[in-house]
Amino acid sequence: MHQPLHNDRLLRALLREPVDVTPIWIMRQAGRYLPEYRATRARAGSFMDLCRTPELACEVTLQPLTRFPLDAAILFSDILTIPDAMGLGLYFAEGEGPRFERPVRSAAEIAALAAPDPEIELAYVTDAVRLIRQELAGRAPLIGFSGSPWTLATYMVEGGSSKEFSHIKGLLYENPAALHQLLDTLASAVTAYLNAQIAAGAQAVMIFDTWGGSLTPSGYREFSLHYMQRIVEGLTRENEGHRVPVTLFTKGGGQWLEAMAETGCDALGLDWTTDIADARRRVGGQVALQGNLDPAVLYASNERVAEEARKVLAAYGDGPGHVFNLGHGIHPAIDPERVAALVETVHAGR
Ligand code: CP3
Repeated sequence: MHQPLHNDRLLRALLREPVDVTPIWIMRQAGRYLPEYRATRARAGSFMDLCRTPELACEVTLQPLTRFPLDAAILFSDILTIPDAMGLGLYFAEGEGPRFERPVRSAAEIAALAAPDPEIELAYVTDAVRLIRQELAGRAPLIGFSGSPWTLATYMVEGGSSKEFSHIKGLLYENPAALHQLLDTLASAVTAYLNAQIAAGAQAVMIFDTWGGSLTPSGYREFSLHYMQRIVEGLTRENEGHRVPVTLFTKGGGQWLEAMAETGCDALGLDWTTDIADARRRVGGQVALQGNLDPAVLYASNERVAEEARKVLAAYGDGPGHVFNLGHGIHPAIDPERVAALVETVHAGR
């Protein structure tokens, strides 16, 4: 059904198999730093209209691959599609980031939530995956993704982005049973959603735990890692005759890498606060590592970008198991020329 994969560096590196050069993709590679993204986004209307129209989601997914020789495409969507499909009413207020019309705060509101059927409420996502696979025509593998239960719960309970996490931390300390019920529903929802993406053609999947780093060490295990482990255990790990690698990324989770590697995932994403050489010594025998250039390096000159990228390559060192990426998403103000320089440097090697 699908065309053969012409560039399998990403999949090989995630499985710690030898590669010719280090593969690279960039978190938020389809986004506002690209003028062609801003043009398609303007045509679509709202950000969610863009996500909900498979032809447009496909178009923006492919834009960075047309510009740069990247080693992976990542589905254009958002982690907040799941809570939106649960009826919370996602919208983006200009300059304010994501918001929900109906946040969930009480035990009764949590008990009333049900995991959406990904083939119904989220059919626009699986339709986009199928279309992107067709249009990619084997140029590079397609990564599917979801938010972690904890990270989704923070947005659902806070009603949007947060710095203090006052409502969800309040729930965690006052009514942990209700929070566990919410995380349980979300773990089922995420497992079904990722399996639907895999069935539709996603060749690797990544779980974004953007806010796991806001937890205490014991809180992280109980409220975030436990549910990511459940998801890893419930995922389809083999499709189209290939293993489907799973990457876990907890922003601010550098001190918990050993526990994360124990979940049975294939790779860990690292933010820029962790030394990748140190991470490799700690868990490199168990999992591949993805990262971890400081996204702010891209504000510097091409020469400085190349120098800093080579430092990351050198810190990881020889041998397989490294996927180059930024430590978090690319900022909207970055000049695309910096990305061209970065990709060229990583492929040239140190
Ligand atoms: O990586 C990719 O290129 C794939 C697409 C992708 C988007 N969001 C597109 C997007 C992915 C993987 C995400 C994940 C996501 N979304 C996360 C986890 C990763 C992370 O950054 O930690 C989170 C926390 C979200 C929630 C979210 N969605 C935020 C905080 C924002 C930014 C709001 C803003 O105005 O800055 C979004 C919107 C969003 N998601 C945009 C894009 C390209 C920008 C929307 C626009 O075009 O206006």
